[in-house]
Amino acid sequence: MLDELAHAGPEHLDPEFVANFDRKQGHPDPSDDIAALTTHGVDDTATVVDLGAGTGQFALAAAARFARVVAVDVAAPMVEHLRARAREVRATNVEVVQAGFLGYEHTGAPADAVHTRHALHQLPDFWKVLALRRIAATMRPGGVLRVRDLIYDLRPDEAAAAFDSWLATAGTDPATGYTADDYAEHIRTEHSTFRWLFESMLDETGFDIVDVEFTGPFFGAYTCLRR
Ligand SMILES: C[S@@+](CC[C@H](N)C(=O)[O-])C[C@H]1O[C@@H](n2cnc3c(N)ncnc32)[C@H](O)[C@@H]1O
Repeated sequence: MLDELAHAGPEHLDPEFVANFDRKQGHPDPSDDIAALTTHGVDDTATVVDLGAGTGQFALAAAARFARVVAVDVAAPMVEHLRARAREVRATNVEVVQAGFLGYEHTGAPADAVHTRHALHQLPDFWKVLALRRIAATMRPGGVLRVRDLIYDLRPDEAAAAFDSWLATAGTDPATGYTADDYAEHIRTEHSTFRWLFESMLDETGFDIVDVEFTGPFFGAYTCLRR
């Protein structure tokens, strides 16, 4: 079995990095992600699982909308941070679980939806496929999978020039954004894959893609229905 902690990104295991995480990544608006679920029939009685939940930016917003939210993350400092935030905002319908994509054991009613943002790329492709298969197994047929991730919408020959342009647009202050060094480290050490590979993984693991949107060649948002 893959050691998911060893692949979690060492920064996510560092309490100081976690304490500053929201400042670095900003506060992406989760309303499109919640709308992607409700548009496809996920209602206020739903069980929603957020995998690689981080500081809980999606999970806590989802808790205001859905009956049961399970926020799962492999990193202890993220889990502690999220538990404290959930207590602070009295999100009593959020369960925080320390587990990885490959280790999470879902209990209770099958999930009506699974959300994961900027986390699946931590797994190498073989394990990503197994993780997607496990996700499908936690969901009811017709359930919604919403995935946002760094995914490369490129042909192989375009990669070098595209990465050069990406690095050129990066921020310069690592406390308040992602820098060229952060992006270069991502490309070198993490497992973002090509769009055309990722879409075939989704199909192979039992998902129909109903909507896909790319912001530039690096960031994809998928809405999928479990067959
Ligand atoms: C870049 S953060 C994104 C957090 C959150 N989804 C967000 O968008 O704000 C990636 C998160 O994935 C978690 N992670 C990394 N590998 C994981 C794994 N195998 N299973 C579950 N979570 C994982 C990290 O601990 C971290 O919290």
